[in-house]
Amino acid sequence: MLKITTSPKSLAEATKKYCQLILTEEPASAHRFVEASDGTLTYRLGIGKWDKVDARSFRTHVRSFVQTAKNHQIESLALEFPSGKYSQLSLYDEAWLASTLVENLMLADYEFISYKTKKKSNKNLKEILICGFASKEALSGFKRGLIVGEYINKARDIANQPGIDLTPTALGKAATELVKGTTVTVRVLGEKELKKLKMGLLLAVGQGTKSETKLIIAEYWGAGKPTEKTIPKKKQPIVLLGKGITYDTGGLNVKPSGSMHDMHLDMSGGSSVLATITIVAKLGLKKNIVVLVPSAENAISDDAMRAGDIVTAMNGKTVEVLHTDAEGRMVLADAYTYSERYSPKVILDIATLTGASLVALGQHASAILTKDTKLEATLRELGEKSGDLVWPLPLWDEYKGSLKSHRADISNIATNFSRFGGCIEGASFLSFFAPKNVPWAHIDIAPRMDSIASDKLAKGSTGEPIRLLVSFLEQY
Ligand code: BES
Ligand code: MN
Ligand code: ZN
Repeated sequence: MLKITTSPKSLAEATKKYCQLILTEEPASAHRFVEASDGTLTYRLGIGKWDKVDARSFRTHVRSFVQTAKNHQIESLALEFPSGKYSQLSLYDEAWLASTLVENLMLADYEFISYKTKKKSNKNLKEILICGFASKEALSGFKRGLIVGEYINKARDIANQPGIDLTPTALGKAATELVKGTTVTVRVLGEKELKKLKMGLLLAVGQGTKSETKLIIAEYWGAGKPTEKTIPKKKQPIVLLGKGITYDTGGLNVKPSGSMHDMHLDMSGGSSVLATITIVAKLGLKKNIVVLVPSAENAISDDAMRAGDIVTAMNGKTVEVLHTDAEGRMVLADAYTYSERYSPKVILDIATLTGASLVALGQHASAILTKDTKLEATLRELGEKSGDLVWPLPLWDEYKGSLKSHRADISNIATNFSRFGGCIEGASFLSFFAPKNVPWAHIDIAPRMDSIASDKLAKGSTGEPIRLLVSFLEQY
């Protein structure tokens, strides 16, 4: 694993084993290596004018340090902590700068290699030294960044696992493993308990497979576990729901080839909220957080739910399954109902819910849908600050009408099979199940499920939106 350390000394004082990274105002991508007569290696990298660098470009620059170091088989890299260098970043404090630097070094270093039989050559990036590190603020940001980076990468490791290995049962075990060493508790409910709870939508989605359907529950009581009958405001938890479909074939409405192979990532919402609660515990935040991950495999068999089936949700509503591939909203619907027992202060659900969100936004931002304009503004702003960008789509009542079923209370897709506004339709379905009078937001992370080249990350899971969620929980 990459080791990142700090030193109060200047970059010039770094020992000879380190390749010194020197940033210049030359155009971005201009770079050269200089070897001094004593053998010290300097790597000069142009990143453009200091005052042109903003939070977004800073993060990608940082990732490119790691990429280039790897390409040139550099084992030890030293760089200067860029305090006060970028005028546009003065918006944020030194803790942010340090955390952002460390997080992105770690995210860029991540590779998913557990299924490779040939392990990498030992000429690998092993350590990074950050010089000129002085303030207390910077040091606390550094520590935060190490935790955030480590657990985002763990979440990516879980998400990247193929469906054959990462079943709902395995996801439950991974959750238990993840929170080890913290005060987070994990409970995993099986089908027997889910039947007792009448979680008919979650069970319907998972009924076509031998892999047992689960509800994974993680709790963190940093503000004190409520013991009162009516939970006092101060102790009401923030609830995070994460879609945990460990593989999505589409069900009997089977996905076409080319659209199915990466559907092991359909539990990315689940792994992201599990990593988030662990990070919050590691940071020791005095907040109460509850995480719910309804987890199932959307498989095909003679036991699978059929298009046209009518099933009853935990809240008593009947749902006509017009499309078996619209399973994410079904499992989340029952999780929303389950969340009521916690009297949540606010609920966020994180889900790779629709291909339509990619049609709307491309692959640079997740979609956020909420009626709470303040919550929307907060999340958008924290998206910029953290790097997990979110962009709003409307959650208006006008859209709810299309889900009115002829045979049941509601259908899981538009009754006229229209594909227009598919991302909004998914959120509208959830609005029939979200507890009344509790602010909530749906974040459709399908656009950010898979990395793209400009991310400068390994192919596969991005680990989003963990940075956003952690920032949100720190300040809410
Ligand atoms: N998991 C998919 C959504 C998805 C698609 C995520 C592409 C990431 C990339 C979801 O369960 C799904 O299949 N949604 C359907 C909904 C439709 C049937 C209304 C879709 O997007 O096609
Ligand atoms: Mn689906
Ligand atoms: Zn899905």
